[in-house]
Amino acid sequence: MRTLILLVVLINSARAEEFSHAVVAADHRAASEAGVEILKKGGNAVDAAVATSFALSVVRPASCGIGGGGFMVIWDAENQTSIALDYREAAPEAADADFFTSQKTVDGQEELSVRGGRAVGVPGTVAGLCYANKHYGRLPLADVLQPAIRLAKRGVLIDQHDQSNQKSVLAKFRKYDGYGKRFSRLKQQYLNNGEPWAEGDRFYSPQLLTLEKIAAEGPSGFYSGEVAQAIVDACNADQGEMTLQDIGRPKVVEREPLQADFKGHRLLTMPPPSSGGVALIQTVKTLQAWEKLNDRPLQSVGRTTPEYLHVLTEAMKHAFADRAQYLGDTDYADVPLQRMMSSQYAQQIAQRIQNKAQVSENYGRFFAADDSGTSHFSVIDQHGNAVACTETINLTYGSFVVVPKWGILLNDEMDDFAANPGKPNAFGLIQSEANAVQPRKKPLSSMTPTLAIKNGKAVFASGASGGPRIISATIQALLNRLIFGLSAQECSAMARIHHQWFPNELLMEPDLYDSLADSMRQRGHKVRKNASLAANQTAVSENSRLSGGSDPRKNGQPAGY
Ligand code: DON
Repeated sequence: MRTLILLVVLINSARAEEFSHAVVAADHRAASEAGVEILKKGGNAVDAAVATSFALSVVRPASCGIGGGGFMVIWDAENQTSIALDYREAAPEAADADFFTSQKTVDGQEELSVRGGRAVGVPGTVAGLCYANKHYGRLPLADVLQPAIRLAKRGVLIDQHDQSNQKSVLAKFRKYDGYGKRFSRLKQQYLNNGEPWAEGDRFYSPQLLTLEKIAAEGPSGFYSGEVAQAIVDACNADQGEMTLQDIGRPKVVEREPLQADFKGHRLLTMPPPSSGGVALIQTVKTLQAWEKLNDRPLQSVGRTTPEYLHVLTEAMKHAFADRAQYLGDTDYADVPLQRMMSSQYAQQIAQRIQNKAQVSENYGRFFAADDSGTSHFSVIDQHGNAVACTETINLTYGSFVVVPKWGILLNDEMDDFAANPGKPNAFGLIQSEANAVQPRKKPLSSMTPTLAIKNGKAVFASGASGGPRIISATIQALLNRLIFGLSAQECSAMARIHHQWFPNELLMEPDLYDSLADSMRQRGHKVRKNASLAANQTAVSENSRLSGGSDPRKNGQPAGY
C-alpha cells in the first residue's frame, strides 16, 4: 500500500502538463514531438499521427516500424465521421496450414514462426501511413516524413528502455550459437555490434535511406523495385517463401470501427483482424450488466478493492475465452461478432460471475458456435479530432531479419496466427481454426486503439503495447478515466492486473499485488506478481484542456502546445 501511495504522490506532484491546441502521447518523447512539429506546421491530427509513426520507426525500432503493420482509429470532429484503418501484415501466398508444422526450428533455435524469414508477414505500415496521409491528411507526405528523417540523420539518445531491450536480445544471441551469424545485421546495425549501450550513446537508424526513398517516391518506393526485391531476398535467404507479388500487394482496409455506448460516451475501437475491440466492448458491457444486476455502481465499489478487481478479472476471462474460441480475420473466418458484443450476451456473462473464480471450462464460449514489439500513441486536438494508433513488429526486434542496404527490420507477425495448432503462441495464447494460417489472411491481433466521443468531440484516446495485455491495459485505462475520473497520466501509470483466461493465472503489478493478492486468492484466483504489464499511452480532453500520459514503464513522454 505504501508504494501505491508513494506513486500517487509522485504522479500528483509531477503535475501533468496541459495544452490548449493539441497533445500527442507516444512512448518516446522525440516521437511525440514529431507529431507536434507537424501540427504547428498546419498539419491535422492524421498528419501528426503519420509523422509520429515514422519517427517511432527510428526511435523505437524494437517495437514497431516500416517493417511491420498496425491499426489506426480516427475521429473527424468536423464531419462527425470515424474510420478504422487496418494495415496489418498479411500472410504470403505460400503460407498454408502446414507452413509452420512441417519444419519447426533451425538447429534447435526459436521457432520459425518467431524468428527468421518465414516469420515475416507482408509489411503494411508504409502503405497504411501513406494511405492515411493521402486520404485524411493535409500536408505532403515528404513534409510529414521530415522529423523521422532528421532523427535518423542526427541519431537518437539511447534510453533505459533501449538498454534493457539490448540486454535481453543479446542474451538470446548468447543462448543460441547460430544467431551471431544468422542475425549478424541485427547485431551490427541495431544492437551496437553487441557492445552494451552506455549513457550518452546515440543510435543512427539504418532505415534512413528507405525513409528518404519513401519521401521521394511514395509507397511504390517501398513496395516495388529495389527495396521490394531486397525484402524478398532477405526473407528467402532465411527459410522464407516471399515473392515480389506478395510484397506488392499490401492490403490497407478501411473498416467501420466497433461502437458501443458506455457511461455517456460513444466508444470507437478496432474490429477484427484485431481481437482487442471485441474483447474491450464485451468486457465493458459485462461490467455494465453486472452493475445493473447487482445494483452496485462500480464507482462506489472502488478502484483498488478486491471486489472490483475480481469482477473485472472474471469479465476479462470470459472475453479471452471467447477470443481463443472464435476470433480470426473476418475476411476469411466466420466470427459471431454481433452476438459476442450483444447486451444479452453480456447479461448472461454477468449472471455467471460468482464471488469466487471458477474452473477454466466455465468461461465464455457458452452460446452455440456460430514484450515489447509494439508501440501505441494517442493524439487529440482542440477541435475534438483524434487518432488512436497501435503498430507492431510483434516481438522485440521482430523476426531479427534486417534487409541489407535498406536497414528495414522485418516483423514476425506470422506467430500471431495459430501457427502450431493447439500449442500456445509466444504470448501463451491458444487459438482456434478461425485464426489458422492461410494465404493472404491477416493474423489475429490484440491491438486495441480506442477513442471515447462525447458531444461529438473526442475526449479520450488510448491503447497499449504488450501482446494480450494490450486489451486489459486499454480496458483499465478506459475504466480509470470514464468511471473513476483519473487523469491521462494516472491512466498510463497506475498499477494494473491482467488475466487472459488461459493460462489460468491472475497477474498483478506490485502495488496491487502487495495489498490485494491475499484477498484475490481467497476469491479463488491463482495470483502471480508481475513487475510490469503493458505500456499505455492516453490522451484526454477536459474543459478545453488537453493532457497526455505516456507510460513510465517505457520511458515515454507526451508533448503538446
Ligand atoms: O498484434 C498483436 O497482438 C501482437 N503482435 C502485439 C505484440 C506486442 O504487443 C509486443 N509487445 N509489446
